[in-house]
Amino acid sequence: MSQPALQVHDVTKTFGGLTALRDVSFSIPDGAIVGLIGPNGAGKSTLFEVVSGNLPPSKGRVQLYGQDITTQPAHVRRRAGLCRTFQKVRLFDNLTVEQNVSVAACCCAPTGGNWRREMATVLDQMRLAPLAGRLPAQLTLADRKRVEIARAIAGHCRVLMLDESLSGLTHEEADEVVSEIVALNRTRGTTIVFVEHVMPIVARLAQRLIVLHYGAVLADGLPADVVYDPNVVAAYLGSKWGDLAWRS
Ligand SMILES: Nc1ncnc2c1ncn2[C@@H]1O[C@H](COP(=O)(O)OP(=O)(O)OP(=O)(O)O)[C@@H](O)[C@H]1O
Ligand SMILES: [Mg+2]
Repeated sequence: MSQPALQVHDVTKTFGGLTALRDVSFSIPDGAIVGLIGPNGAGKSTLFEVVSGNLPPSKGRVQLYGQDITTQPAHVRRRAGLCRTFQKVRLFDNLTVEQNVSVAACCCAPTGGNWRREMATVLDQMRLAPLAGRLPAQLTLADRKRVEIARAIAGHCRVLMLDESLSGLTHEEADEVVSEIVALNRTRGTTIVFVEHVMPIVARLAQRLIVLHYGAVLADGLPADVVYDPNVVAAYLGSKWGDLAWRS
């Protein structure tokens, strides 16, 4: 059996007296699509910060395909294929769409890889080719989020962490981006870990759900089980999502 894509072992993160993550452990298989959900302030973005290397954990370890990356800087993890977007879109505002993506394609492409071809492929995959010459300010929110995803995956991406990449989009826009994310998973084999509050989107994407609450894992399992877990219903979901068609 192949190595898990990502393993998080007993990760705790404190900010002064606040414990944002408390002994968080889970393992994500290669090629999976996993949703990370939970109330505001549960620690979801902090977990992405720790896993991506922007913040050191106070305790615990992170492994990427079996390799311990806990002390690796963020850029080394990125080159190893651990990629992410940010909850608040962060593009280079004075660069065009193509230039934004080329920064990543150029920096993160494996040695000897053809970064120009990679950039064109990624622009096509995220349906951004017609917008290649535009600046971020000339784009809709949905297209800015697409550029962030394109920049995250360009070069070399094995695990993609999406922090609310679909929030603020219309139904139709979110549906399109969901299809693009699923296509990334199917065609490139990218492992996807996504944070999302919009439950119909979670239902469409997630093969598995991890629920964080006050920085700890409250539930971890098949969506169809997790959404009926009384602890999850009480802490976060309420009972109205039971009717969605949950994939399993
Ligand atoms: N750099 C920081 N310094 C101090 N406290 C922080 C820092 N980053 C996050 N926190 C705190 O850690 C807790 C978890 O925050 P986090 O942003 O991870 O939550 P979240 O689950 O992503 O919430 P949301 O759904 O609103 O995005 C919150 O109480 C937050 O105020
Ligand atoms: Mg967050």
